[in-house]
Amino acid sequence: MNSVKFLQIEPTTRCNFTCKFCCGRYMEQSDISFETFEKIINEFPELQHIELQGEGEPLLHPQFFDMAKLAQSRGIRISMITNGSMFTSQRIDKILECGIEALQISIESPKPKDFYEIRGGKLEKVIDGIKALLKARNDRGQKYPAVGFAVTVLNRTKEMFPLIVDLYKQLGMDGKMSVQPLNLMESYTRIYGEAMSQEFVSKEDQALFLLKYAEFLQFYKGFKSNIKHFYEELVSNAEFLPFLEEKANKAANTAFRTDFRSCPWLDGALYVDRNGVITPCCSIKDEKNALGKIGENSIDEILQNRSKMREQVRGGIVPEPCRKCALAELITSRLSSLLPKKPQLAETPSFGKFNKSNVLENLDSGVISNKDIISESILELCDGETTCSGIIDKLSQRWKLNMDEGQVKILPVIEELICREVISV
Ligand SMILES: C[S@@+](CC[C@H](N)C(=O)[O-])C[C@H]1O[C@@H](n2cnc3c(N)ncnc32)[C@H](O)[C@@H]1O
Ligand code: SF4
Ligand code: SF4
Repeated sequence: MNSVKFLQIEPTTRCNFTCKFCCGRYMEQSDISFETFEKIINEFPELQHIELQGEGEPLLHPQFFDMAKLAQSRGIRISMITNGSMFTSQRIDKILECGIEALQISIESPKPKDFYEIRGGKLEKVIDGIKALLKARNDRGQKYPAVGFAVTVLNRTKEMFPLIVDLYKQLGMDGKMSVQPLNLMESYTRIYGEAMSQEFVSKEDQALFLLKYAEFLQFYKGFKSNIKHFYEELVSNAEFLPFLEEKANKAANTAFRTDFRSCPWLDGALYVDRNGVITPCCSIKDEKNALGKIGENSIDEILQNRSKMREQVRGGIVPEPCRKCALAELITSRLSSLLPKKPQLAETPSFGKFNKSNVLENLDSGVISNKDIISESILELCDGETTCSGIIDKLSQRWKLNMDEGQVKILPVIEELICREVISV
């Protein structure tokens, strides 16, 4: 029996929005049939969690709730991502009854004009819908679905993130916030117009984003449900690099982990499109990169094909279908940086006010949040630096950080470098 526990299943490619970064707008517009959905569910008897999500608006599928109920009747947990434009009272009742545990609504800007320009839909309507959904859920005394935001970070909106957090709080949402940069893989970039091509957030600015907003991404008590969205659960089952394992167990928010040993999708999940074509994840679209098709290939064959890609990533190689995937690049570059390269010790480590005990004290007291991802990002930025003062200089120049205020934020990288014996105390 195959042991796939996580599947993303695409209900449809049809949509009532026109987001300028969405490759679904250029695909054949069609729905999954109920029969294909049922076949998929039957093929994977060990399923624990599915996400109903693809390149269209899931709630437009005429049998969306029948599919969800089938999964519910098999004891499978359900997450979904939606554009949030279709929360009528009838649909809200159905959402509350079909077992969806985690629901995220996509947003890039909390300003109606930007929202309309980017998504081609009305923010006001989305907000009214979220209010109605939360009210109906709370009136029933129900905890699910946890309702959060999915944020695609663009250059023009990256500074608006705190305003999205304010909106989240104002609305009383609790399903957390997932963030992702604009996808750089070829199947996406080929549809970006000139304007959208200016919206990539550079690696450095992504690092700065995470550094600046780490606190918001962690969330305060009271704004965070215990229910795990699909990706969060997938990641919590993933394998991480050993030298961070101990810290990893303490990590507050697994959704923002980056110290993977391998890709969590290749380890434990599959994506099935509306035609039953299977790829390792939703970023791999072209049929030529498919692992197989429901009804045409055995699941064993599909999983063997996936294993080959998994071994490549674990060996520090980006498989061809994963080219330009940020996660693949992160894992493989990190793995190659761990290959038996002799750690270069700093000649004269200069710690200024820092020393190992105050670093560890700060980590333990929780002053530093989201430390793993911050140190990961900073490490990339500071590649080649071997002294703390070099790192501090580089960071302060690049990000114009005031070291008096900002020094605590760079402690994680210092700790990381000590862990890796790149510098010593
Ligand atoms: C494809 S949509 C489908 C679900 C639903 N229609 C929605 O917009 O939420 C799923 C998520 O992918 C994000 N997305 C779409 N195109 C993207 C791209 N080119 N790069 C990064 N994220 C993208 C959307 O913003 C959304 O959060
Ligand atoms: S709402 Fe979702 S599916 Fe529709 S265009 Fe936007 S990203 Fe694509
Ligand atoms: S490495 Fe990236 S593209 Fe490849 S399977 Fe994993 S998430 Fe998908």
